[in-house]
Amino acid sequence: MNDVVKLERHDVIAVVTVNSPPVNALSAAVRRGIFESIKTAAADPEVQAIVLACAGRTFIAGADITEFGKPPQSPSLNEVIAEIENCGKPVIAAIHGTALGGGLEITLGCHFRVATKEAKLGLPEVKLGLLPGAGGTQRLPRAVGPELGVKMIVTGEPIGAAEALKNGLIEEIVEGPASGAEAFARKVVAEKRPLRILRNDDSKLAAARADRSIFTNAAAAANKKNRGLEAPLACAEAVSWTLDLPFDEAMKKERESFLRLVAGDQSKAQRYAFFSEREAAKVQNVPEGVKPRPVERVAIIGAGTMGGGIAMSFANAGIPVTLIETGEEQLKRGMGIMQKNYDATAARGGIPADAPAKRMALITGVVGLENVKDADLIIEAVFETMAIKKEVFTALDAYAKPGAVLASNTSYLNIDEIAQVTKRPQDVLGMHFFSPANVMKLCEIVRADKTAPDALVTAVAVARRIAKVPAVVGVADGFVGNRMLAARSKQSEKLLFEGALPQQVDAVVTKFGMPMGPFAMGDLAGLDIGWRSRKDRGITSPIADALCEAGRFGQKAGKGYYKYEAGSRAPVPDPDVEKLIDDTCKSLGLTRRIVSDEEILERMMYPMINEGARILEEKVASRPSDIDVIWLYGYGWPIYRGGPMFYADQVGLKHVAERLSFYAKQANDPSLEPSALLKRLADEGKTFASLAKSA
Ligand code: 3HC
Ligand code: NAI
Repeated sequence: MNDVVKLERHDVIAVVTVNSPPVNALSAAVRRGIFESIKTAAADPEVQAIVLACAGRTFIAGADITEFGKPPQSPSLNEVIAEIENCGKPVIAAIHGTALGGGLEITLGCHFRVATKEAKLGLPEVKLGLLPGAGGTQRLPRAVGPELGVKMIVTGEPIGAAEALKNGLIEEIVEGPASGAEAFARKVVAEKRPLRILRNDDSKLAAARADRSIFTNAAAAANKKNRGLEAPLACAEAVSWTLDLPFDEAMKKERESFLRLVAGDQSKAQRYAFFSEREAAKVQNVPEGVKPRPVERVAIIGAGTMGGGIAMSFANAGIPVTLIETGEEQLKRGMGIMQKNYDATAARGGIPADAPAKRMALITGVVGLENVKDADLIIEAVFETMAIKKEVFTALDAYAKPGAVLASNTSYLNIDEIAQVTKRPQDVLGMHFFSPANVMKLCEIVRADKTAPDALVTAVAVARRIAKVPAVVGVADGFVGNRMLAARSKQSEKLLFEGALPQQVDAVVTKFGMPMGPFAMGDLAGLDIGWRSRKDRGITSPIADALCEAGRFGQKAGKGYYKYEAGSRAPVPDPDVEKLIDDTCKSLGLTRRIVSDEEILERMMYPMINEGARILEEKVASRPSDIDVIWLYGYGWPIYRGGPMFYADQVGLKHVAERLSFYAKQANDPSLEPSALLKRLADEGKTFASLAKSA
């Protein structure tokens, strides 16, 4: 039919095959090809049924996201679906891989659907800040009922073939998608089965139309985790129209809602995040064609907070792990915590009941570093002390097999210095996971001076295999994320001296969309750690020190910047802290003032962005979008704000630079002056995004 859609006839069955790698997204050419194919097959008197299948690794994975925001080209997806739905001959969708978004919507316009057993079906538009815009909100609830329909559309989570079969979304599970669909099509023809046209089938809506709570409860449950996002609410509302409005009217409203969301700031940020995440996995400055080394077995050193979480991440992906400790007791403790974590997840239905045993069986706990000898990748997660890290890497150099990648999970330390103690610095790099490591998706991959390109791409590939989001960074104190966080921490502390209170600062930060403010986060992590480290280094921080001297170590002590009721993690503002801050400031001769929320927000965000600009200048990160990925997946930056560098572009770099200069003078702190890069971009009226484009 055209370059990307082929039409063939197998006697009475027409087979339409989409072949548009990598994911058969619905570009204008694909839409046109399907439209014309269906029209041709429908008009062909020899054809009695039509199969819609895809070549390559997957069925259609959705609308082509790169076309959003560009002038629409006909036929629209709705026109393609209407052509299928009204063509008068049975159309059977042959699903393999993932039928997502517009891809699933096309199948909902078909009269029957069959899928291979590993196939996944879903409407993930909400994750891009959208709602399904081609009838998905109206046809999916008619196929599976409004309860499952609203859950799938509001969470964006796909379901597997077995669940799809159980809920009437597909008719059969087949072996080969196209051949299975063809056999099914012949059955439909032989049996003269009536066409199932979902738009006309309200049978599954009857119960919720009679008892509205069936829908409202399901919608509320699906929307529980939504923080500040517009799309999930729009999705739930659109599904509710299945209960209240005629199909065509609901379709019109769905379209309007889609167009409003696609033009909105939240969806723009979420689409940017989607592409930034994929961009981050493409390593820059490595020779073309460099291949990752094979990784079949992994060793992790240290079964503490991080080592345990990292081991779980590998076991979750089915990769065997040797977990190494200094003694049986530490090992037992670490293994016990992992077991408890798995059991708790299974108990609340997060993983199948047999998963904890299966996953624990992949983790072998042992004592002694000589046990690394079979590992292709070794990740060190011992105490954060250079001398200990060096000791461990000297031993790894002695025991690891040639070509094994040696990674450190250090939060701050210099990987070049660690690599120097080995005779194989080309194999050494950082893999900086975030806590809790079995949950947080980010992995900063630290490229040291001598890291070999194939070692680097190995770490990136492995991170993706265990469902992490990798971002390559250079050696620097705290790499990218923690270095920027330090710039923010410095300001949050200063704000207390100037007149703000912890609860005011935290409220501004959480209102912005971060999951926690800096002071609640400090309480969670424990204030004593920083206090001890300051003492070691001969540094003081009068308010934080005074809190610790008063035994206020944070949540674990029931008090820190806040107080905590017994057994509760909810921070409660404490007048004693207010007094402590006041007294400390008085003793230092400081006069406190009223600090506005606007100033707090700017001082929490702009110095961090400035540090991000310095990081780009120093090439510690190669793309602004990599910095954004780090904040999205390592620090809970709200996805609808795209990341700090994207946010700065939205605010305008000129404004950011001017405010930084203002605060630099107000606080007499030259480090707040805009960095050379920020200043240049601001002066030229450019954005951080322009750097990526010019590169
Ligand atoms: N449009 C354009 N490009 C897409 C795309 C899409 N819908 N989906 C994936 N791609 C691109 C990726 O950007 C990537 O490009 P690159 O190689 O240049 O970086 C390439 O396809 C491969 O993608 P992944 O690296 O993500 O491949 P995986 O195999 O890991 O995952 C996938 C495949 C599960 C299909 C995943 O890509 C995905 O989730 N895609 C998005 C699906 C989606 O959100 N669909 C809904 C779109 S909105 C819509 O349909 C609106 C409609 O209701 C009107
Ligand atoms: P932890 O104190 O919980 O665990 C460290 C473990 O290493 C202990 O169980 C200890 O017995 C073991 N260990 C020490 N020396 C060893 C050796 N020679 N051989 C084998 N095991 C040894 O520490 P945590 O928090 O897990 O941190 C580990 C590393 O991860 C540090 O470098 C830290 O900076 C980094 N990190 C920590 C994060 C966090 O939030 N806790 C986040 C990201 C990185």
